[in-house]
Amino acid sequence: MIIVPKVRGFICLTSHPVGCAQNVVNQINYVKSKGAINGPKKVLVIGASTGFGLASRITSAFGANASTIGVYFEKPAAEGKPGSPGWYNTAAFEAEAQSAGLYAKSINGDAFSKEIKQKTIELIKADLGQIDLVIYSLASPRRTHPVTGVVHNSVLKPIGETFRNKTVDFHTGVVSEVSIEPCTEEDIANTIAVMGGEDWEMWMDELKAAGVLANGATTVAYSYIGPKLTEPVYRKGTIGMAKDHLEKTAFVIDEKLKDLNGHAYVSVNKALVTQASSAIPVIPLYISLLYKVMKAKGLHEGCIEQMQRLFATRLFNGSKVPVDEKGRIRVDDWEMREDVQAEVAALWAEATTESLPNIGDLAGYRNDFFNLFGFEFPGINYEADVNEMVAVPGLV
Ligand code: NAD
Ligand code: NA
Repeated sequence: MIIVPKVRGFICLTSHPVGCAQNVVNQINYVKSKGAINGPKKVLVIGASTGFGLASRITSAFGANASTIGVYFEKPAAEGKPGSPGWYNTAAFEAEAQSAGLYAKSINGDAFSKEIKQKTIELIKADLGQIDLVIYSLASPRRTHPVTGVVHNSVLKPIGETFRNKTVDFHTGVVSEVSIEPCTEEDIANTIAVMGGEDWEMWMDELKAAGVLANGATTVAYSYIGPKLTEPVYRKGTIGMAKDHLEKTAFVIDEKLKDLNGHAYVSVNKALVTQASSAIPVIPLYISLLYKVMKAKGLHEGCIEQMQRLFATRLFNGSKVPVDEKGRIRVDDWEMREDVQAEVAALWAEATTESLPNIGDLAGYRNDFFNLFGFEFPGINYEADVNEMVAVPGLV
């Protein structure tokens, strides 16, 4: 079929298998170009199909020659209906890994469930024995609690006060005022239930109890801080409460891994265009200004550059893992640099529909957005008939 983008607000309903494969190959080539990392050998990535999780998997495999198991929740390809981007990304990754002689298998299902955790443990036991790195990179709007059966929905809202600021519709470039009403107490609890650390801890408990964590095993989950500008709706909003919980959970898990000489970390990553971040009001405007400033300074990174740097210079640098005063790894260090933030704040004040095309990198934002779905890669003929029925080679 011929596949064109079908955009509805901040999501795209279609994805392009050839473009998604190109995206994966580009990331693989980047990691290879940076040289070998003396890193993990057997890796489980939870949330492995897109964004930071996919980049972590690619870095593990093509940077450190690791065997990888990926867990994700994606829509398979069907006749006349393209699969979701993570489906095609995984298909391409596993094909590339297998042809490079690397073990790569995956499980498609709800990572929050007991069933998928058990299935993963069985796969580790059967194929790898034990794993030495667990990446936790889920981003989900909801979670069915495995014990209570309650469905929790996360929200992106401020706490206590209405938030008013600028935002941009990144498709039209129109800058407008957005106003977001504060959340309820229940919203906070629900967002923590979805995006906090409980599920990460459950995974680690079950992996440990099953004896599939190797001595010295490490686990890492991803967090975000960001600037003052987005604080009311991000770090001090409902999602920030969940990130606080996730960050606290790292210490709980770290303690539980002591007898294995293992460690749990949170890595604070940079703001990037992913399916998750496109949905957050205000963030697209911030990102389009940030991209402009960071590109001008030669500091811009995408998911793969971030994860390669996390592995090579933080987690597996051959000595101590550098952390901040709260025990967190910081690969948002360049984003948070004082000069970068000062310039973004100044541009923010000036941003209007008229000025944004010049002072912001809206084109870069849009390009990254379409790239997430396999569109707008140079050299791909998007008018060509492509086979949408791509299989994931290592799917269990
Ligand atoms: P993403 O949407 O690209 O990836 C989410 C992954 O989770 C996908 O692999 C998806 O299949 C999987 N997933 C979602 N629900 C699932 C379920 N129920 N069962 C199994 N798999 C499921 O998101 P991302 O931006 O890469 O986010 C990953 C983490 O990084 C999140 O914790 C996010 O908060 C954090 N982070 C993101 C940014 C950013 O700017 N995008 C910055 C810093 C930190
Ligand atoms: Na991810």
